[in-house]
Amino acid sequence: MAAAVDWSKVEAKKVTLLYPAQSSWERLMIRERHSGGPRFRDGKNCFACHGDIDEKSLGMALVNGEKFKEPAPVIGKPGFQEALIKTAHDADNIYVRVEFDPGKQPDAGQDKDYENKVALMIDDGGAENGNRAGCWTACHDDVQTMGRGSEKIPTKYLMQTRVPGGAGRLFDPPELDKMKADGKFLEYWQARITPEGKAVAVDGAVLDKRTDNTETAVKAEATKNKAGVWTVTFTRKLTGVPGHKDIVPGKTYNVGFAIHTGHSAKRYHYVSYERTLVLDSGKADFVVTAK
Ligand code: HEC
Repeated sequence: MAAAVDWSKVEAKKVTLLYPAQSSWERLMIRERHSGGPRFRDGKNCFACHGDIDEKSLGMALVNGEKFKEPAPVIGKPGFQEALIKTAHDADNIYVRVEFDPGKQPDAGQDKDYENKVALMIDDGGAENGNRAGCWTACHDDVQTMGRGSEKIPTKYLMQTRVPGGAGRLFDPPELDKMKADGKFLEYWQARITPEGKAVAVDGAVLDKRTDNTETAVKAEATKNKAGVWTVTFTRKLTGVPGHKDIVPGKTYNVGFAIHTGHSAKRYHYVSYERTLVLDSGKADFVVTAK
């Protein structure tokens, strides 16, 4: 279990998550709306322009933003959230530990059951642009609560599940099944923290929609210290888990983090730009070493 890891020996990485409002993939690709759009298409990644640079200022601008960016602001919500993230593994498991202080958060009243939730999405090359745009590859304008959203599309999805030029039409089920079997999906973990401070783990995949697994392979633990700082630790088997990505040395994974605070739900979260993760050795934001 996670308790076996001596976390005091693991270096933490600070990740600043920003409040994205309705900044969908589609909106960010419009030159008039986002000067980074054309440059992204030319090959520059989101992190290269924004990462560890302007999460705070952009988040603050967006949280109370102009009407078309944030039509339904949660009054008094901070624009960004910092987190300290540590990773480790042993013979069987990978551990991801996220420490964050929600600070003073207004009650958004959206998720009555859970005040705080921590999530991450993992790509291993199967999601188009997952390596360049992280979570934004699944963040679209026609998803519920987004700019052109409706209840018809309640969750995030990958564009590669839509027929090109098909006005949102999905590929047929056998083709979607093949994508899933070929690993062309984002893996998703979430820890929902109960009022008693227990973590409820949820995992699943994002493909044509977000699907939660009926049996979760991820364990989550949460603790809060006297200062109000939460520590959430995820544990998952490294390999051999059906419907999950094998985490093996020599391969680069892309991860994006999200934190919901103040009883918020859906898009009212904080999100990180894309980060990289490798097992044992290599060049990445998170080099997950054996403990
Ligand atoms: C070439 C640099 C560059 C790249 C690449 C880039 N951006 Fe930006 N981004 C900017 C700049 C500059 C702004 C400030 C506002 C503007 O010019 O549109 C901005 C603004 C934003 C905003 C605030 C939007 C708003 O409506 O105010 C968000 C969110 C954002 N970028 C996310 C992203 C994401 C996600 C990606 C990758 C898909 C990305 N950016 C790629 C330069 C970049």
